[in-house]
Amino acid sequence: MGLLVKPMETSLGTMIYTYDGAAGEALGKRESHTPKIEAPKSVKSGEVFEVKVKVGPHPNTAEHSIRWIALFLEEDGRAFNPLMLAKSSFAPGYAQPEVVFRIQLQKGGILHAMEYCNLHGLWSGKSPIKTG
Ligand SMILES: [Fe+2]
Repeated sequence: MGLLVKPMETSLGTMIYTYDGAAGEALGKRESHTPKIEAPKSVKSGEVFEVKVKVGPHPNTAEHSIRWIALFLEEDGRAFNPLMLAKSSFAPGYAQPEVVFRIQLQKGGILHAMEYCNLHGLWSGKSPIKTG
């Protein structure tokens, strides 16, 4: 009877890199992969505003590129977070991983942006936002 090896189980959350959490080989990738969020620190409840998210400088070829960026809200007081607010996909070699989302919030919280690089995985960045 052969040795039964159970596959290693990992949760998706532990595979999302962050600027401060990166270690080892990922340290050299964090400047080029952590999404940068440009958003107001405070907005009026219900009023539309712009959130710009960009990644890079980063290669943009069929072999290696940023494939998508998604924006989430960790909403204050919400039982199940996050809310996915918007997502944008990029054709390698054609579209730059830079996007402006038009958003309106009823409650503040923390904006989280996540991107996917086909070689270097999932990376997230965040920016707190208040409503008044
Ligand atoms: Fe990459």
